[in-house]
Amino acid sequence: MPLEEDLRALAMDIAREAGGLALRRRREGVAIAATKSAVADIVTEADREVEALIRDRLKAERPGDGFLGEETGADRGSTAVTWVVDPIDGTVNYAYGIPAWAVSIAAVTGEPDARLWRAEAAAVYAPPIDEMFSASRGGGAWLGESPLSVNAERGVAGALLATGFGYDPATHAGDLKRVARVMPLARDLRRIGAASLDLAYVAAGRLDGYFERGLNPWDHAAGALLVTEAGGRVGGAPAGRPGVEMTIACADSLYDDLSFAAFGDHDPNA
Ligand code: IPD
Repeated sequence: MPLEEDLRALAMDIAREAGGLALRRRREGVAIAATKSAVADIVTEADREVEALIRDRLKAERPGDGFLGEETGADRGSTAVTWVVDPIDGTVNYAYGIPAWAVSIAAVTGEPDARLWRAEAAAVYAPPIDEMFSASRGGGAWLGESPLSVNAERGVAGALLATGFGYDPATHAGDLKRVARVMPLARDLRRIGAASLDLAYVAAGRLDGYFERGLNPWDHAAGALLVTEAGGRVGGAPAGRPGVEMTIACADSLYDDLSFAAFGDHDPNA
């Protein structure tokens, strides 16, 4: 089996186990353990426990690989592979019992910096509805056993889009400006609250496109591979701070129109 397929199988296996643990903790009741950079940037005990499970399983299966996790940070490995992990993407939904959250696991090679790495394999698992999205480089993107392809929408006017808002309040004025520009042009706009699912839904054709400024690597590492392997395009421009980027994901045919509608001639860093 090619390496990417091995990595995809492992990512799915661990994502399923991690998702099961998150779901059990959710049923027992979730408490917010701490707020991080902002009041919306929360962490629960389950985030920490689920990340520990993923980290331990990866260490047991592939001891030399690196690790970059939302809750525990970076660990450089001795192999070419780094695992980029968000144990619970959509933590606010998770904490409030909204069933739109996912375990996001990507295996990347090269520098553990989103602008330099190459994603090899990905799993985005949504436990509340038991949906497993996965992809391997060159091997396509899948929902369960079904192959995925993005919608070939040609213009924002016919597009169902999604966006998200980062945690830094200084960026919210810019986010709202983008929403005000895009909403009147698009079919409609969603704020699902889990970037990995936004990207998975673009890959699956449930959304035509998605844009957000300020994603962290663990938010988009797995989802971006789903989109490109489903025939779509993912773009992002560094916004001046490491790890802080804009992301646009959609079919190639929609990219220029969406990019202009969302970011137009505005300063992308605003
Ligand atoms: C967040 C979610 C949200 C997005 C934020 C992310 P988290 O991830 O994906 O939809 O708008 O930018 O940080 O904190 O729930 O893992």
